[in-house]
Amino acid sequence: MSFTRRQVLAGLAGLGVVGLGTGGVRYWLGRPENVATHDYELIAAPLDMELVPGHVTPAWAYGGQAPGLELRCRQGERLRVRFINKLEVDTTIHWHGIRLPLEMDGVPYLSQLPVQPGEYFDYNFICPDAGSYWYHPHTASTEQLGRGLVGPLIIEEREPSGFRHERTLSLKTWHIDEAGAFTEFLVPRQAAREGTRGRLSTINGVPTPTLELPAGQVVRLRLINVDSTITYRLNLPGGDARIYALDGNPVEPLPLGKEYWIGPGMRVDLALKVPAEGAELPLRNGPLRLATLKSVASAEPAGDWPPALPANPVLEPDLARAETLRFNFEWAAMLSGDVERGGSYKYWQINGQAWDINDKTCADRPIATLQKDGHYIFVLRNMAQYQHPIHLHGMTFKVLSSDRRKIVPYFTDTYLLGKNETARIALVADNPGVWMFHCHVIDHMETGLMAAIAVV
Ligand code: C2O
Ligand code: CU
Ligand code: CU
Repeated sequence: MSFTRRQVLAGLAGLGVVGLGTGGVRYWLGRPENVATHDYELIAAPLDMELVPGHVTPAWAYGGQAPGLELRCRQGERLRVRFINKLEVDTTIHWHGIRLPLEMDGVPYLSQLPVQPGEYFDYNFICPDAGSYWYHPHTASTEQLGRGLVGPLIIEEREPSGFRHERTLSLKTWHIDEAGAFTEFLVPRQAAREGTRGRLSTINGVPTPTLELPAGQVVRLRLINVDSTITYRLNLPGGDARIYALDGNPVEPLPLGKEYWIGPGMRVDLALKVPAEGAELPLRNGPLRLATLKSVASAEPAGDWPPALPANPVLEPDLARAETLRFNFEWAAMLSGDVERGGSYKYWQINGQAWDINDKTCADRPIATLQKDGHYIFVLRNMAQYQHPIHLHGMTFKVLSSDRRKIVPYFTDTYLLGKNETARIALVADNPGVWMFHCHVIDHMETGLMAAIAVV
């Protein structure tokens, strides 16, 4: 594979468009007014945050905040992001859930070379599907996502959706101690189990915030799990809420019910009918409060439930002629090389193969090769007692069935495969390329649970 490094910069000195010295805001990000080449300039840089009162956490941020600045685009339109790396490490951006060309997918050595410190890279792609998505690096992921390089990407429907109010809620549990210092992002004995959990839960970077919502209105809550490890068991006791979309893709609206499990990388769009002024609702993870939703006065007439969101233009797999492929997700501990000298832990494998996070050639050996425009059923079998949010790049798939729960088939990019569960998914292989297929518990991914699937 050969790359042309798109742009190489010795530093930011020559980069007039960034607007250094023209005021603080443009330094971080803006919709530049007269720039023909991009819609956003997005800078990754260190940022000291105060997650624990009186203490500094040395985070890494997109656009001066962690989780990163919310990027938006209209469905069917082109998103152009000039990404500028002001970190001291290599990085990339992956656009989670967006069906785009491989060169824009942000996987180092497969899609592009890493963006080195001081360089920039122009991401430029059409967003075919509306919904709630997000972005994050695909390099040194436990550390980079752990330090805060995660951000929401909202693709607005072509026509107004019927929601007049919305909020984005990015869920992240930080790996920090009581003094705000980072703790280990990958503890080997945890990576071999459910994954290394952080300690401080936040929404949009704030622990247990109070979010004010307009009384009597129906508000779209875009919940995005940008965490590396935790499956949040979302519940909203006393709230009148309906699910409108899962992982970006619309579903026939259904009540939130007792609890919705949102695994790492997953999203859920809820419609909440905000109660009378002054009322407070706890948004919780199991029994733990994540946020307080507080109803405040609204001058508008009461809102009603909007109609279902329009479906995204995803091809319907034809099950009658689909070929079936099986993927087994297994626990298998092995140590490859001396970890102190660049070796890696491997605890997980797919069909007997573990991904080596340090081996740049793994993608040259895809675990499956699909024919372009072919129809496929994947049988996903979890042989372990820990759950895996299984994610595929480049294509959206349809969840068909599970041996553990009743499934109303729906489209997604990530399926939370429960303990010892077997599920069936299907897709049309309409996007040529080599696509990552991995668990979104980041330390599972970094200890083997990743593979490449080729579409030729
Ligand atoms: Cu959120 Cu490889 O992806
Ligand atoms: Cu992805
Ligand atoms: Cu996993």
